[in-house]
Amino acid sequence: MSTYIIQGGSPLRGTVGVNGAKNAALKLMAATILTEETCVITNVPDITDVRTMIEVLNCLGAEAEFRPDGTIVVTADGGLTDRAPYELVSQMRASIMVLGPLLARLGRAHVALPGGCNIGSRQIDMHLASLKRLGAKITTEHGYIEGEDGRLRGAVIPLDFPSVGATENVLMAAVLAEGRTVIENAAREPEIIELAAFLTAMGANINGAGSSVIEIDGVERLHGAEHVVLPDRIEAGTLLIAGAMTGGDVTVQGAVAGHLELLLEKLKETGAGITVSDEGVRVTMTGRPKAVDVATLPYPGFPTDLQPMMAAYLAVADGASVLTENVFENRFLYIDELNRMGADMRLDDHHAIIRGVEKLSGAPVRVPDLRAGAALLIAGLAAEGETVVYDAGHIDRGYQDIDSKLRDLGACITREG
Ligand code: EPZ
Repeated sequence: MSTYIIQGGSPLRGTVGVNGAKNAALKLMAATILTEETCVITNVPDITDVRTMIEVLNCLGAEAEFRPDGTIVVTADGGLTDRAPYELVSQMRASIMVLGPLLARLGRAHVALPGGCNIGSRQIDMHLASLKRLGAKITTEHGYIEGEDGRLRGAVIPLDFPSVGATENVLMAAVLAEGRTVIENAAREPEIIELAAFLTAMGANINGAGSSVIEIDGVERLHGAEHVVLPDRIEAGTLLIAGAMTGGDVTVQGAVAGHLELLLEKLKETGAGITVSDEGVRVTMTGRPKAVDVATLPYPGFPTDLQPMMAAYLAVADGASVLTENVFENRFLYIDELNRMGADMRLDDHHAIIRGVEKLSGAPVRVPDLRAGAALLIAGLAAEGETVVYDAGHIDRGYQDIDSKLRDLGACITREG
């Protein structure tokens, strides 16, 4: 895998753009198989996960094209198969998002069970229980999910936990079901609103997206649509934390402050200056951050996807912080790597106890997962001396050209391999 080499210590200064949201784009792509007409999705980031989803769509028999300008064109007219193979699903868990659309469009699906990943077992029990409530006959044999029935039928779907993926799979299954579906305790992330907007543009009948209760009245068929992907709030948050951690002055163009409220509040509590304008969000920071406690929760709580980067930032805070992870069971794999850079962190159940140190020191580190990789990048930017970030390919899953963006802000970072 590739490697980043960073000489730390340069404050990031300037303006940087943010790409389209990975965690929206992947689901919008899955939704295109709900119609035989052509769909066009623009502002899609060129990242590994998007390229994997293109492969999944083509493997299902759709014609999916990813153009250099970030436009994706998909036509799933004839000859759709219902098989999403293990080789692709194991590469990217989000492939499971084709399950709902396949059941809705074909009345059947044969999708490999996604494995766990470094941050947790990533169960899909809520996905499967919900689809069964819609009338799908779901069995899991030989590592595959077999879903079969005719047309799905609307139902009330209470979610034990506001799972993003389960909400999205049900949403995409219910739009072509017979009658009304009501999702209770639905996820409220901006990406849910985005998916509902795209489905509505395709002719779906959805109310309440973004709230805990979503109502869907099934329709006979959906037509093609066009959609522009919203800015990636996690990339924006990553860049803002990097600006604060390096004691810089960074404006993230296109960042939607309303999608980052808790992060911006926490950055202000640490002593950072935050300015919100039509252009985006600007962060300024001088001196050491103050220690703050953070607990991740489903949206609109503090995003779990920004938890590792916040830990890196708090590693150099003046004081002790408690960082609590309430969404995933194993999202602290970066702690050992940050401690090799001189941080003072220890894990107590699902709490990271972080005693701030004056400075981190550059060191060779290895990336265990996507967002841990972003945290190690940020730590290297602020550390004294050289940091070599190995297995940086994990970072490419969710960030397009992150090194050139950071170089444009004054970072001393190069990529090898
Ligand atoms: C989405 O994952 C995102 N991924 C994650 O981002 C994000 O961290 C997560 O939502 C929470 O915001 C994509 O959108 C592709 P969940 P998802 O279902 O849908 C458990 C990143 O770094 N659970 O809300 O898988 C699950 O194990 C990625 O960009 C069940 O137990 O999240 C987890 O502990 C990481 N059973 C918790 O719920 C289920 O059936 C939250 O999962 C479903 C989920």
